[in-house]
Amino acid sequence: MAKKIKLAFIGAGGIARGAHMPPLQKMDDVEVVAIADVSEEAARQAADLFEGKPKVYSDYRDMLKNEKLDAVDICTPNLYHKQPTIDALKAGLHVIVEKPIAMNAKEAKAMVQAARENNRKLMVAQCQRFRPDVQLLKKMIDAGELGEIYYARVWALRRRGVPAWGVFIEKDKQGGGPMIDLGVHMLDMALYLMGHPKPVAVSGQCYTKFGNRKGIFNPWGEWDPAKYTVEDYAAGFVRFENGATLSIEASFVANIRKDEFNVTLLGTEGGSDMDPFRIYTERHQRVIVEEPTMLPQVNTYEAELKEFFAAIREDRDPLVTGEQALMTQLILDGVYESSEKGKEILIKA
Ligand SMILES: NC(=O)c1ccc[n+]([C@@H]2O[C@H](COP(=O)([O-])OP(=O)(O)OC[C@H]3O[C@@H](n4cnc5c(N)ncnc54)[C@H](O)[C@@H]3O)[C@@H](O)[C@H]2O)c1
Repeated sequence: MAKKIKLAFIGAGGIARGAHMPPLQKMDDVEVVAIADVSEEAARQAADLFEGKPKVYSDYRDMLKNEKLDAVDICTPNLYHKQPTIDALKAGLHVIVEKPIAMNAKEAKAMVQAARENNRKLMVAQCQRFRPDVQLLKKMIDAGELGEIYYARVWALRRRGVPAWGVFIEKDKQGGGPMIDLGVHMLDMALYLMGHPKPVAVSGQCYTKFGNRKGIFNPWGEWDPAKYTVEDYAAGFVRFENGATLSIEASFVANIRKDEFNVTLLGTEGGSDMDPFRIYTERHQRVIVEEPTMLPQVNTYEAELKEFFAAIREDRDPLVTGEQALMTQLILDGVYESSEKGKEILIKA
């Protein structure tokens, strides 16, 4: 058997324990040797999930110094993506970091540069790309079945869904609200499917109409309105160098019929929706709806981790690169900056 990859975690909260760690318990070519979290309690609880009982650290820098590692999985709040990533890359480790890559594009650029300078892999955990419907649609698009894709409509909308835990409502720790937290998932999916066209201009508007009010119904519990410094709804419009455009909406709270997470693509030979998954075409001058069925069940977190390890073993780029995530982040930054300045922002990548 190939040598085991020695992995450590930085951040052992909800996504680490709930999504990344369970599939790792079953992977026999990877060993989780250490876990760092500023909350030692969180790190200890995470360590209890593994038979080998990884070592626990409250400062990740001590862990990087003391442990012999190949890679780290960074699952901290957005504010703590950049520095641990750069420190780990400089220590010669490969990095998978949770989405969004960072708080903003300036941080993302520094991370991408550190990966290049140290010749290590930097993957961003955009789990949605690994969905079987997304993978099938990507194959269809790459085979030219949708023709030229000229427009994408992207939604990540919650009717009432403010995360009442963690730091998701604090701009200085997250970089933004639903646009950066939820929008990034569907935006990444759309850009991947479109073949990563280069964004050249972004327009956007953010609103905080509920977050700073008391008494708004929220099935996930109460939040502190005084701490709420992010938007609760944002809309954006993106122009790409190849002439394609994309509109995006994201919300934690909005007076809409229901939650909706979707990407609609318009192509010259076909269109598509992700929810429900449908392809729209025309044949023999008749319009046709195709509905793929019997797609495999995929644990997207397991799939993304396996891709990261495969990229390390095969010494190739992972499916989600730091460079791609930087472009996504430039769009997100553009939405926020455009909202602040009240005008379209030109992207200089
Ligand atoms: N892919 C997905 O579907 C998905 C879902 C949820 C969250 N996320 C992402 O995962 C990240 C973490 O979110 P979460 O829901 O797990 O948050 P969380 O608050 O549950 O956990 C974060 C953990 O990081 C620890 N931490 C904070 N600062 C640290 C530091 N400097 N060093 C080490 N540990 C530190 C905290 O103590 C906490 O245990 C965010 O970037 C979020 O966007 C992704």
